[in-house]
Amino acid sequence: MPLHIIVGAQWGDEGKGRIVDYLASSADYVARFNGGDNAGHTVTIGDHIFKLHLVPSGIIHPQTIAILGNGMVVNPRSLLEEIDTLRQAGVEVTPQRLHLSFGAHLITPAHQALDAALEDARGKGKLGTTGRGIGPAYTDKAARRGLRLGDMLRDDFLTRLGEHILESNLTLGLLGAPELDPSPILDAFRHYVEQLRPYIADTSAELDAALAAGKTVLAEGAQGTLLDIEHGTYPFVTSSFTTAPGALTGLGLGLHTAHGARVIGVAKSFQTRVGSGPFPTEVFGPEAERLRGTGANPWDEFGTTTGRPRRVGWIDTVLLRYAVRLNGLTELVLTKLDILTGLEKLYLCTAYRVGGEVVDTPPFGCNLYACEPVYEELPGWQKDVHAARRWDDLPAEARAYVRRIEEITGIPVRHVSVGPEREQMAGKNNT
Ligand code: IMP
Repeated sequence: MPLHIIVGAQWGDEGKGRIVDYLASSADYVARFNGGDNAGHTVTIGDHIFKLHLVPSGIIHPQTIAILGNGMVVNPRSLLEEIDTLRQAGVEVTPQRLHLSFGAHLITPAHQALDAALEDARGKGKLGTTGRGIGPAYTDKAARRGLRLGDMLRDDFLTRLGEHILESNLTLGLLGAPELDPSPILDAFRHYVEQLRPYIADTSAELDAALAAGKTVLAEGAQGTLLDIEHGTYPFVTSSFTTAPGALTGLGLGLHTAHGARVIGVAKSFQTRVGSGPFPTEVFGPEAERLRGTGANPWDEFGTTTGRPRRVGWIDTVLLRYAVRLNGLTELVLTKLDILTGLEKLYLCTAYRVGGEVVDTPPFGCNLYACEPVYEELPGWQKDVHAARRWDDLPAEARAYVRRIEEITGIPVRHVSVGPEREQMAGKNNT
């Protein structure tokens, strides 16, 4: 039963999209299990740069079926726009190739308005959300008053949507935000229902049957381990299960399907974070500008969804080990190794100093504010790595850096990415 689960091992934006793209060439299904259009996956193929927020990036391969799982929250407007963009780029998106779980929850304009109003109300304690309505949509789900994609097939859908807007207006009023007029929203959703109806399916049963028949399913996580609602740097997290076990609940798969699964963690060769929250290895000033880039290149560290400059820092192996444990990672893929070329020295955080003590695991609750990083220093390399395709093509210092990460995390690094193009990957052993 070949289930492969791909998750972010840090705070999101690790480059999962292109790894999924790389592995999807031999997959039958690519399935997203969490989050919504807060995610931004960039895949570069020739002159085309695909920025996908909802549809799994593996759809670009013609043999795959793409699934949006029940663990997701879906803004139908964004989804239809994305389908259009993909079609314009020549990707076939039909109800035969894209299946939406009836259990996924809808994001409405009320959720987006609430996201903005709640952030305003937090003042200095802002979470720095993407403003896509993610938190309020999951709040409605947990409060058992959410609207699901399957509800769009019911005769009373528009009535329930109208009630949801009026109820949300009460909260918006309390927050001092303008209330929404239900009428244009209902008109827009009438159109969304017609457009999306043919795509809605029982994706849980479909995936279970596919796995039983020996098909390959790539479960694609959005965001990263440290943004997980349970195990991340709460409250500076997203509202979904971003870790590998979330692939099972978020796709409606039983534990039997996970037996022997490959669980691939994608980590950047350094570390980034968007939005608020602790970041022990964060760097500032010229050091940060060097890692972030200027924004002139699409791969510089500016948010795919929001355009915000990302916070940057050195790789934190205390948190990587935490990600190995929580996800049950079987292997790592390290991205953006090329960005480190030219640096004299590289720093790996291997432990924290907390209140006079040195620890090598995150303190209780992943509360990292009091953690001062303890660094190991390694020599950098000067030779350009963009053309490396095999492990042996990498400079000795780059190999030593990767090996040290393997030693500390206890799992193999199967691939490193050395540039933004699809083929710019160096594999250790090509499994
Ligand atoms: P939300 O998911 O929009 O509610 O945002 C909650 C936190 O997660 C904020 O700090 C966001 O910046 C962060 N976040 C959400 N989605 C992503 C992502 O795809 N990459 C990186 N950070 C994200």
